[in-house]
Amino acid sequence: MEMNDNILDNKEEEQQNRYKDIFKENMRQYQRIMAYYKCALMEVETKFKVLDEEFSLAYDRNPIETIKTRLKSPQSIVKKLQKKNLPQNIQSAEKELSDIAGIRVICPFPEDIYFLCDCLLKQDDVKLINSKDYIKNPKPNGYRSLHLIIEIPIFLQNEKRMMKVEVQLRTIAMDFWASLEHRIRYKKNLSEETLRALSKDLYECAEISAMLDNRMEVIKNMAEQNQAED
Ligand code: GTP
Ligand code: MG
Repeated sequence: MEMNDNILDNKEEEQQNRYKDIFKENMRQYQRIMAYYKCALMEVETKFKVLDEEFSLAYDRNPIETIKTRLKSPQSIVKKLQKKNLPQNIQSAEKELSDIAGIRVICPFPEDIYFLCDCLLKQDDVKLINSKDYIKNPKPNGYRSLHLIIEIPIFLQNEKRMMKVEVQLRTIAMDFWASLEHRIRYKKNLSEETLRALSKDLYECAEISAMLDNRMEVIKNMAEQNQAED
């Protein structure tokens, strides 16, 4: 078992290195730009943490359950550039890809998502590039989340640099659903028939889950309203 794991690890490492080779002629440039993306993620994460802190002082609960950040791996960057028929270098990646830096903000209730989104976009150093509301308009498979592409400045020694960050906001329930759907999508060896049945079930679960989100929100709001009247 351990042996197998090692072999897998080595293979993966080899693959990683092969992709890194593509950026090799300009490895330093690649590392520098990836470091900028990491800084941009730190900035956006802090913005959300500040909003969470302030909200929790005022309302005695947190609008954020978890925050996850990730940088796109070199192999995913190359794959996406290939798919889009774009030159495979970090300059073209920075120009053309908007999801090299990604942050996922997971909230208890749907209204938390819109609250956080409004607060973020009101900030004068945040520029909205694009937004997709898959909560108001779910994907045909049932997927729900609010997606934003934003640009924010990072301040370096001698320059201010605008960096793109993909922000995904979703509820705990939406995240639970998306994780399962993602896992199933990448499962090999599922028959057409099984896949169709699972997709139908997943779609139904997305609907049930959205209903649960909304009902839980109503319950919370009624409890809060009663408390205010007490
Ligand atoms: P990508 O090329 O995949 O980045 O998609 P896009 O440019 O069409 O953007 P979109 O906003 O639709 O999706 C961006 C990201 O949202 C994906 O990389 C996933 O992380 C997530 N996502 C979108 N659709 C789904 C879905 O149906 N299921 C799951 N699990 N995640 C999704
Ligand atoms: Mg993506």
